[in-house]
Amino acid sequence: MDLEKKEYISKIKSLAKEKNAVIFAHYYTRPEIQEIADFIGDSLALAQQATRVDADILVMCGVHFMGETMKILCPDKKVLIPDMNAGCSLADSCKAEDLKQFIYQQSSISNQKYTVVSYVNTTAEVKALTDIVVTSSNAKKIVDQLPKDANIIFGPDHNLGAYINSVTGRNMILWNGACHVHSRFSLEALLQLKKENPGVEVLAHPECKAPILAQSDVIGSTKALLEHTIQSPAKRFIIATESGILFEMQRACPDKEFIPVPPEMTEGVGCSCNECEYMRMNTLEKVYNCLLNESPEMQVKKETAEKAVSAIRRMLEMS
Ligand code: 13P
Ligand code: SF4
Repeated sequence: MDLEKKEYISKIKSLAKEKNAVIFAHYYTRPEIQEIADFIGDSLALAQQATRVDADILVMCGVHFMGETMKILCPDKKVLIPDMNAGCSLADSCKAEDLKQFIYQQSSISNQKYTVVSYVNTTAEVKALTDIVVTSSNAKKIVDQLPKDANIIFGPDHNLGAYINSVTGRNMILWNGACHVHSRFSLEALLQLKKENPGVEVLAHPECKAPILAQSDVIGSTKALLEHTIQSPAKRFIIATESGILFEMQRACPDKEFIPVPPEMTEGVGCSCNECEYMRMNTLEKVYNCLLNESPEMQVKKETAEKAVSAIRRMLEMS
């Protein structure tokens, strides 16, 4: 089937109405996906919103762990994800078996009990081993609420963990994982952009490497960066996060200019934007087909979901 964009949009809208379905999209998805979504947000807002809507079907246009989080929070709803292969390199960098071993090793070395804090970009199995889930929106707020003498293991994003250590004064033990998109921003290109645009603020996601964060004026989740561009009187910004967010920034502030920081050159070819290929796997055709066929449907094993849900609920209570 090869329908035109307009036709897909109208068919998706009428199917969603007929089936009492709500469409969610992360800020990093393609512009046309953000256009058809009922809710667009960062991972915290999407998880919170999923628990509030009155719908039979939730369609999560994002990546696999976002669909899992939704299913864990809304076990009685049908959660669809347009492409089951839309994974996440960060979630992949932390296998539950390896984390279990890591927690065991750290506890045996120090003879201490650890509080395990995991970023939401993790599998359901990792969340099941976790005490509290966090997102980039609430990680600082939640870590600040933990007892000052708590021994904390934080994973999987090493860059985010190091940043949270620096702003909370904690000494969390960090898992060595990373997002392939956020860790490939070019420092050289950022320095050049700063030189060419003196005085223009740099906004960065905390999954970026420390040298990029050190050159940034505002560090925050996708939502925090978006809100900053709306509230700031400035007219131009340099942006170091996945380039999908530029669509929402431009839609919210049509009179402002957003300059994306490019990734490091690959095989001699430079590119001006830094895209997450997993987020781009959400297309109008796949959203249409998944609503039509009510498939692929997200499933999470009952015992895993039961363990993971308390860590996610703790996050929602503390954020
Ligand atoms: P947010 O928590 O800011 O939505 O980020 C999710 C993500 O996948 C970042 O790469
Ligand atoms: Fe995962 Fe990175 Fe893509 Fe976010 S941008 S979904 S962390 S691979």
